[in-house]
Amino acid sequence: MRAVVVSEYGVLPEVREVAEPSVDAGSVVLKVEATGLCRSDWHGWMGHDSDIVLPHVPGHELAGTIAAVGAGVSGWAVGDRVTTPFICACGRCEQCLEGNQQVCPNQLQPGFNYWGSFAEYVAVPYAEVNLVRLPDDMTFATAAGLGCRFATSFRAVHQVGKVTAGERVAVFGCGGVGLSAVMIASALGAEVIAIDTNPDALALARTYGAAHTLQPPADLTEVGRPHVTIDALGSSDIVQQALQALRPRGRHVQIGLLPAGVNLDVGRLIGQELSWLGSHGMPAHAYPEMLNLVASGNLNPADLVTRTITLDETPAALAALTHTTPAGVTVITP
Ligand SMILES: NC(=O)c1ccc[n+]([C@@H]2O[C@H](COP(=O)([O-])OP(=O)(O)OC[C@H]3O[C@@H](n4cnc5c(N)ncnc54)[C@H](O)[C@@H]3O)[C@@H](O)[C@H]2O)c1
Ligand SMILES: [Zn+2]
Ligand SMILES: [Zn+2]
Repeated sequence: MRAVVVSEYGVLPEVREVAEPSVDAGSVVLKVEATGLCRSDWHGWMGHDSDIVLPHVPGHELAGTIAAVGAGVSGWAVGDRVTTPFICACGRCEQCLEGNQQVCPNQLQPGFNYWGSFAEYVAVPYAEVNLVRLPDDMTFATAAGLGCRFATSFRAVHQVGKVTAGERVAVFGCGGVGLSAVMIASALGAEVIAIDTNPDALALARTYGAAHTLQPPADLTEVGRPHVTIDALGSSDIVQQALQALRPRGRHVQIGLLPAGVNLDVGRLIGQELSWLGSHGMPAHAYPEMLNLVASGNLNPADLVTRTITLDETPAALAALTHTTPAGVTVITP
């Protein structure tokens, strides 16, 4: 099969022939129909993820059709249209049995722990735990974004941030994660403040429901102190701005990765009773609530996809993320 292969960190990957994944017991192999290009792929390519072993195939936001079913997998058949959370959980550990597959210590992530979906085929381990059936009317391109950025934002806004109608929510960074958060928080009835350096991203944020759009340096007090701040970029500066802006007892949700760490003003966290909350992916069992909101028209993840590219265009698109972030979500069709 053809795949995007990273042989050295930070060096342009190449598209070449590699062996197809084997169909192990408990897993399935998917024919990749669409796969999203996410900032986390760029972090991996840059060498920020210690799980990656070179040579490596990135790609963790995927949708496809089942091409082969491993021994012991029931309920799934060749040809089924599916997606999966990027966190493929084991289903058997204490965290999984409590329903918190997103923090499973045995988790395997395609495109990080093993070869991912920037390829014609990809494996999904622990298939019965992690496969999500796609509604018939959802395109593969739309579904690809659900596995990471949209689902991650759904959990971050709804389950971790517990955003409710009437609350003010500031979203810092309006890439795929941030724009998803804007759309989801708006649909929940929040007054959303979108902050981004890129005016094109802010224009999209408006169409997804943001009531206010600001370019940094943003003075949030002009709008009013938010109940919830979301770092959808991964920036120590943003964390500091967010903690300064929050109302007393406000919640900060951290989605963006911070490979260099961050200094927290713990005195302010205590004195103002602020919550600093990490959020990581979303388990497969939580998808139906999100998919029902899509089916009812309250959420429109299809609107987030602004660009579709081929496998051959992927190495350059990945490398370009060093300097720019195109507004909206880019989807690859292998
Ligand atoms: N926690 C999780 O489970 C999880 C899941 C998916 C992605 N992530 C991480 O979330 C982060 C966002 O991912 P993405 O794919 O949306 O990234 P992205 O690069 O597509 O988007 C980042 C956005 O931030 C904007 N930006 C840049 N500098 C800014 C500044 N100073 N102030 C405000 N905005 C600024 C950019 O213009 C861009 O629109 C990444 O760190 C990614 O690795 C985490
Ligand atoms: Zn991602
Ligand atoms: Zn587990």
